[in-house]
Amino acid sequence: MKTTFVAKTLLSFFLLLSFWVSAQKSDRELILIDKDWRFSFGHLYDTEKDFGHATGYFSYLTKTGFGDGPAAKDFDDRAWRKLDLPHDWAVEQPFSESASFSHGFKAAGKNYPEKSIGWYRKKINIPESDLDKIISIKFDGVFRNSKVFFNGFYLGTEQSGYNGFEYDVTAYVNYGGENTIVVRADASMEEGWFYEGAGIYRHVYLQKTNSVHIKANGTYVTSEFKNNEADVIAAVSIENKGNYKGSIEIVQTIFDNEKKQIATFSESLLAPEFYKTITHHSKFYVENPKLWDIDSPNLYRLVTQIKQNEKLIDSYETTFGIRTIAFDPENGFFLNGKSLKLKGTNNHQDHAGVGTALPDEIQYYRIKKLKEMGSNAYRCSHHPPTPELLKACDELGMLVIDETRLMGINDYHLNDLQRMMERDRNHPSIFCWSVGNEEWNIEGGIVGERITNVMQNFAKSIDPTRPVTVGISSGFKSGISSVVEIMGYNYLGNGDIDAHRNQFKNQPGMGTEEGSTFATRGIYFTDDAKHYQSAYDKKPRPTFYSIEEGWKFYAERPYLAGMFIWTGFDYRGEPTPYGWPSVTSYFGMMDVCGFPKDNVFYLKSWWGKEPVLHLLPHWNWSGMEGTAIDVWAYSNCDEVELFLNKKSLGKKKMEQNGHLEWKVNYSPGTLEAVGYKNDKKVLSEIQKTTGKVEKIKLSLDKENVAKGNVSVVTVEVTDKNGLHVPTANDEIEFAIKGGKILGVGNGNPTSLENDQFIDNLALVSITNFQEQKGTTAVLPQQLSNYSESEWITAFKDRDYKKQVPSYIYRGEFELKSNSVKNTVSFFYKKIGVENVVFVNGTKVEPSTEDAQKYTFNTAILKEGKNTIYIVATPLQKVKDWDVMNTDPGVIQVITPAEPWKRKLFNGYVQIIIQKEDNAKEFVLSASAKGLQTGILKLK
Ligand code: GAL
Repeated sequence: MKTTFVAKTLLSFFLLLSFWVSAQKSDRELILIDKDWRFSFGHLYDTEKDFGHATGYFSYLTKTGFGDGPAAKDFDDRAWRKLDLPHDWAVEQPFSESASFSHGFKAAGKNYPEKSIGWYRKKINIPESDLDKIISIKFDGVFRNSKVFFNGFYLGTEQSGYNGFEYDVTAYVNYGGENTIVVRADASMEEGWFYEGAGIYRHVYLQKTNSVHIKANGTYVTSEFKNNEADVIAAVSIENKGNYKGSIEIVQTIFDNEKKQIATFSESLLAPEFYKTITHHSKFYVENPKLWDIDSPNLYRLVTQIKQNEKLIDSYETTFGIRTIAFDPENGFFLNGKSLKLKGTNNHQDHAGVGTALPDEIQYYRIKKLKEMGSNAYRCSHHPPTPELLKACDELGMLVIDETRLMGINDYHLNDLQRMMERDRNHPSIFCWSVGNEEWNIEGGIVGERITNVMQNFAKSIDPTRPVTVGISSGFKSGISSVVEIMGYNYLGNGDIDAHRNQFKNQPGMGTEEGSTFATRGIYFTDDAKHYQSAYDKKPRPTFYSIEEGWKFYAERPYLAGMFIWTGFDYRGEPTPYGWPSVTSYFGMMDVCGFPKDNVFYLKSWWGKEPVLHLLPHWNWSGMEGTAIDVWAYSNCDEVELFLNKKSLGKKKMEQNGHLEWKVNYSPGTLEAVGYKNDKKVLSEIQKTTGKVEKIKLSLDKENVAKGNVSVVTVEVTDKNGLHVPTANDEIEFAIKGGKILGVGNGNPTSLENDQFIDNLALVSITNFQEQKGTTAVLPQQLSNYSESEWITAFKDRDYKKQVPSYIYRGEFELKSNSVKNTVSFFYKKIGVENVVFVNGTKVEPSTEDAQKYTFNTAILKEGKNTIYIVATPLQKVKDWDVMNTDPGVIQVITPAEPWKRKLFNGYVQIIIQKEDNAKEFVLSASAKGLQTGILKLK
């Protein structure tokens, strides 16, 4: 079904209408269910350690609803760890030389079968009043190969670690009671050659809708802008998962960023048939629209409402922007008709301390840091991002290349591409789809050409409004590069860009990757023994170029739309040019925390709009007095003059897109640069030799605080005059009140310190479980001398028809250590009607919160073998075929984490903190031996 309408703005009338409409509540609810999950590791191939999953006589593929092991609805997960999402179990692990180079040497995933499967379980209540609704579970992304179960029913497997997916669970719901969601994530295989994390590292939602509803990612809003007017075209896919037959009304309303209604329209149509979808098209006219731009990212909202017999049954919001994009083979890229050089960076998705489990606030933090550097474009290398990243780019004004993971023409590839595009195509920030990156096997040949043709045309069929690119690293002039719509050059050194362009004059192009330079923040002499790369911009390898060389090349060629530096931020993995024990990359303009390396100031000078003057290195070179030091200035001033201790070392003219250099014999004191524009002093910058470290200083990234509960705190140390000490490497210990710490980092590529300090939770099985017969149903208060010869394997050959009044069970459990700091609990599973428990001869009492949980006093425990006795009156079978529990339960040992700490790396640590929802007081303190403690209080 297809309808097209043009709705002219009739403001006041529709304002009234829309107020009335939106005041009603629709059936749609999207409930974030990130809190209170249970987690445990399973095992890649040892089924016993994988809780017996998939081994049942009938398992989940044999009979529906037969999810076994933890996939079963009633599996006892009380002893599992409690956590909130997003969660990345890889970042919690220690580093190990035998772990993956690509994944930053975290001892998880590939090569770690016991740390490659993660089980997640969550209970949710669904009220009876939801009985007629469609209930689904929506995942933004799980790394990876996730199987999902609901009340024991298998819902499906999602291989991609990057795509979002959702499952309809309506038929399996226990209305008016408890329901269980179970996810088994298998991170044993890598999809990328970079850190990818592990587990449910993005949000999860419970979604409820009317049976007639807008489909998942079911809106597609495009606009055509000309002569100060825009046509907004909205396609809406409506699905019917119920038996309703008859008409429905669709009401579409557009609001601007001040919540002012600008256009609306409604129409009656026939509801789709059972399990069918219809797509409805409408067209709006918007006069003088506020365009989405990188400097003024104006957004609009389309509210789509569905009514059935006047009742509002669905309401769905689509954020979009009105803007035009164009690539021109001669003149590069145009946004809203104005030429715009793309000043981009490539990025993976991990951050210091938290791995891939980024709180939403950190997305904003990162995009803001890139914008501060003067960057206007972001390439999601090499996988679909989380939706919050795109939201941040929309809201902050950052153009995006959205990229799918793998090239190919089969369902695995095209379905992934389609889902990414349908999810993302309303984001105004996205200006280009990338269907691949450096596919070495095919890029220069006919297979690459064929695959690109298919993927490109397929992409066009989903979104004809944006062009398609591929990042190409070899075989320019052939293969992929001969057919791709926008040529994506990966590196100047990989081919002759001008020659390619001369042959393909109608093909626009951009540098999808450039740079791959090596730098360590705050380091000015390369030290291969320590794996430190000096931060002066330099040619990293014979066929790669410095940032300055790269930018000059692109800046000088109008036909090239711009370039994307490899990378904006350092990331875990790919520690080229080194290996173990380097665990993060050296490519970033910023380190993994977002602390700038000096290149940031080169880019700020030539990418940004503000006057810039930056001097490197720092001026703390005690012991190097008299040695010639390279002093560089990054600036966009016309001239820069350098002074050492007030003596001029000469004034130099700045070349466009260049930098300035001096050789200066070190003597402590003040190195000062003065920048001139039109012969006038406009800026000065000082590097001063500091005194010794005295105080810890904590400062909050204020920009982020308002957005949510998560904040980024910079930790540094100063001398007695308050000067930042750029060489400090002290270890700082943290304590927090009113919240928690999510992660710590310092940007040191060789740091093998913990990213997180979380309590260790070990599950210890009870082994050698035996029984003997008791004579009375009265349970003992102390153990007797049971005859050794009477013990037999527990429950072996039990004749349930002839049970004795009680049974005495005996088992063992091993403790690796025993410390008063540990909490050791026994999560008992009923093997009797009434029971008493003894550990190492002492009777223990159940806890008040759970009658089947016993927390042991560590004084009765010992390192090594411990003995547990359970005396119980037996459970009786009601029906012959009843399967009785024979598992006594599990021992949980919690060893508290050490206090949070981290060494400063060249003066800095970053700590990511999260305020408790209702905390009255929120205090972070940072202390170190011999230093004045730093305290940060938040209201
Ligand atoms: C490129 C590749 C990137 C990254 C980079 C490192 O070839 O596309 O993902 O590996 O090299 O230099």
